[in-house]
Amino acid sequence: MARLVGDAAMYSFIVDVVVHPDHQGAGLGRRMVDALVNWSNTHGIRTTLLIASSDVVPFYEPLGFTSDPSSFMKYAPDAPTASDSTK
Ligand SMILES: CC(C)(COP(=O)(O)OP(=O)(O)OC[C@H]1O[C@@H](n2cnc3c(N)ncnc32)[C@H](O)[C@@H]1OP(=O)(O)O)[C@@H](O)C(=O)NCCC(=O)NCCS
Repeated sequence: MARLVGDAAMYSFIVDVVVHPDHQGAGLGRRMVDALVNWSNTHGIRTTLLIASSDVVPFYEPLGFTSDPSSFMKYAPDAPTASDSTK
């Protein structure tokens, strides 16, 4: 499965990209992401965003995605930090 969320105007966010382990490596992930990006493009949305863990960055890069740390912000005041693990 994979979902596209957004305001249907300026930005789309690709979320929940997952392929069942029995079917990984058969091109399904690429086809889903391509389809969502194409939907954005055909609806005039010029920026499609997603959050990728480091192990799947190599999956997204050939699909045209680039890393842009400058645009990433989060709100998680209660989340553990790196310094917590050293206490
Ligand atoms: C990441 C995931 C969605 C890829 O789906 P998939 O259907 O297995 O991928 P595809 O078969 O479409 O692969 C397309 C290409 O990406 C490569 N690829 C797939 N997963 C990769 C990974 N984790 N790292 C690097 N390359 C990867 C494939 O080898 C293939 O390369 P090729 O064109 O040279 O043959 C799938 O492995 C998955 O569900 N993982 C667990 C959930 C997850 O991490 N989701 C991402 C959340 S951001």
